[in-house]
Amino acid sequence: MSRLVIISNRLPVTIKKEAGDLIYHPSAGGLATGLNSLDESFEKIWIGWPGQDIKDEWERETVRQDLKKDGLFPVFLTQEQIELYYEGYSNKTIWPHFHYFTQYTSYRDHYWEAYQQVNRQFADEVIPLIKEGDLVWVHDYQLMLLPAMIREAYPDVSIGFFLHIPFPSYEVFRILPWRKEILEGILGADQIGFHTFGYMRHFLSAVYRICGFEHHFGMLTVGDRLVNVDMFPMGIDYNKYAHPEPASEESETAQKIIQLAEEQKLIISIDRLDYSKGIPQRVRAYANFLEKHPEYRGKVTLVMIVVPSRANVSQYQALKQKIDNLVGRVNGEYGNFGWVPIQYFYRSLDFGDLTTLYKVADIALITPLRDGMNLVAKEFIASKEASKNGVLILSEMAGAHNELHDSITVNPQDRQDITKALLQALTMDEAEQAKRLEGMQEKLKQHDVRNWAATFINEQKKLMESQKENI
Ligand code: UDP
Ligand code: G6P
Repeated sequence: MSRLVIISNRLPVTIKKEAGDLIYHPSAGGLATGLNSLDESFEKIWIGWPGQDIKDEWERETVRQDLKKDGLFPVFLTQEQIELYYEGYSNKTIWPHFHYFTQYTSYRDHYWEAYQQVNRQFADEVIPLIKEGDLVWVHDYQLMLLPAMIREAYPDVSIGFFLHIPFPSYEVFRILPWRKEILEGILGADQIGFHTFGYMRHFLSAVYRICGFEHHFGMLTVGDRLVNVDMFPMGIDYNKYAHPEPASEESETAQKIIQLAEEQKLIISIDRLDYSKGIPQRVRAYANFLEKHPEYRGKVTLVMIVVPSRANVSQYQALKQKIDNLVGRVNGEYGNFGWVPIQYFYRSLDFGDLTTLYKVADIALITPLRDGMNLVAKEFIASKEASKNGVLILSEMAGAHNELHDSITVNPQDRQDITKALLQALTMDEAEQAKRLEGMQEKLKQHDVRNWAATFINEQKKLMESQKENI
């Protein structure tokens, strides 16, 4: 079995300093939760940033030793690198740009310089760890220059790259001043994967127009190498959500969630705090629903979990203010002494509470304006394995929508559309709910996260063999 060398900006654990102590928390976000489910199926090591500026060499060594037991290798970033590479180029340039929020794109040369420098630092950490026969797998938009840097050191090593966010259309991508360097960085990989056919097509079109490489059924010839470009929609650890431990319902929060679901129709909304998720639009649409359908006032509750994310980036701070104000306004306008229309929590949930919420919720309202995939939608569907009860309302802008056709589809900017969808979901009979759920569950069971990783890796191995034959 080949060893898998995973490299991503964020490790599956994030360190936080609490009262002077280093505390390890599971990381939020689809990349970390998804890849972390590959535990027993692959021999792997994982290289990435543990999410804290740790200056003290003694503390760094403690972290190194702690993480090494789990096959994790930290890359330490300084406060300046965090500001310029992580908050700056990654999250003020690439993230907004690739999600079509070009009004937020920042074009600063010093962000770009830091991005190149940190990608180089990752390369310097990874290169000594690579052994013969390893499959290297680089993840996501923070490390798009890394494949070419590893390729330079190891011309024959097999490198995969997977982008977890959308790849925008050429007309948007071309606006970026560093567009060619980014493509050349990614093209250092032997295999390049995207969640959807659309993202893949956009990438191939950008490669053709900017670098001049034509593809043949997704296969590019870059110098003397073949590069396979394909779609690999990421799945979830289906059984983990379909059959969570019964103990997960034991916490006080879980008990309160169960009680609330007995009294009310529960609509859930779960995302990281991010402008790409369409949270204010969703709240406004829910308010519109309460306005148009007063008969549901006092009978439905929107439980909104907003997980803190990238809190030092100004657009995220402004969004937090906006959501706080909106939720306050809706609760003030429609609530009464016995009923709060939106139960809003700005924090993450532990796994037990999260799966309890999925399990008892009547409706998941998932309306991102753009989303590479959206694993929450898939986790909600899996959690309905036993009950066959529940309705998914899903934005057509989420990558997951390509697979979850039996959801109720909405345009996330269309308040009336979401209002109609909520009514349809609340009045859907149980037979139809079960039928829709079963169709989607079947797909998610077959294409779970292990299957996703195995397919990507097998394709990469096949390519490696054919590269050898061509030499
Ligand atoms: N999640 C979490 N803690 C929470 C709520 C959600 O870890 O309190 C997880 C959730 O289970 C999912 C991931 O965060 O696996 C979110 O992934 P998704 O693809 O939906 O969005 P992303 O955050 O990657 O944009
Ligand atoms: C998305 C990105 C990941 C990222 C995650 C959480 O899922 O695709 O690369 O890790 O969001 O964001 P953060 O900035 O906290 O790592």
